[in-house]
Amino acid sequence: MELEEFATRVRKSEALVFFTGAGISTESGVPDFRSPGGVWSKYQPVLLQDFLASEAARVQHWQLKKATYELFKTVQPNIGHQAIRDFEQRGQLLGLITQNIDGLHKIAGTSDARLVELHGTDRKVTCLQCGKVYLPKDVYEDWHEHLPTPTCDDCGGYLKSANVSFGQSMPVEAMQRAQRWSEAADVFIVIGSSLQVQPAASFPVIAKRSGALLAIVNRDPTPLDDYADFIYNGAIGEFFGQLKSLTLDA
Ligand code: APR
Repeated sequence: MELEEFATRVRKSEALVFFTGAGISTESGVPDFRSPGGVWSKYQPVLLQDFLASEAARVQHWQLKKATYELFKTVQPNIGHQAIRDFEQRGQLLGLITQNIDGLHKIAGTSDARLVELHGTDRKVTCLQCGKVYLPKDVYEDWHEHLPTPTCDDCGGYLKSANVSFGQSMPVEAMQRAQRWSEAADVFIVIGSSLQVQPAASFPVIAKRSGALLAIVNRDPTPLDDYADFIYNGAIGEFFGQLKSLTLDA
């Protein structure tokens, strides 16, 4: 399928679902996970069971999250986040399923009613024992790696960034909404994901099986490319620039 035909399908869509990964935020200066120089080339993922079992693992978690916190103070949404927000404002967005924890979709203006953060968010810190929510600045500004890792001032439980760590259960309500949107989409567009992580990467398959047109916009190949109806292997910013000229000027 050519870009022009795809743009026509997008323009006519009344149930657009976007599925985003870290690739949509790299043009805002947020590194993705698996590209060269990405997060996993510098840090090891901390599994939840290791986080609970060892202070050393908790220090590893907090070192990554403190570096992320400093970065997140300055980064801003880019044309990709803004384009998806604009589809919502035009009444075309059924839902946005994001794997990202950088909060940039919310900052761009996507409403909570149309947003599922499948992997939680680094924009909040929570107590694993009582669920109390903390603002990152109240936790990160005072923590340094030679200090004990943060605990809850109400119950003494371990504090952790509110992202879903490997080995942590997925948020049930978020998964249910993502499932409903994937089944109801008429056009399902993957943006900037290597589609390596389950269960997140099952939603494009559910959408396609439910009759949606499946599109994948990603610099590198993904495991679902042969299954998609439309593929764009290029920069996300360029893609949205071209899509905008094809869907708005017409
Ligand atoms: N334009 C187009 N594609 C891009 C761009 C860009 N500017 N920048 C990055 N990409 C693509 C890369 O080619 C890569 O395939 O985005 C993809 C990002 O893939 P990952 O780094 O694997 O990120 P993601 O798919 O979101 O990872 C899923 O894995 O580590 C966990 O929980 C974490 O949510 C994350 C999940």
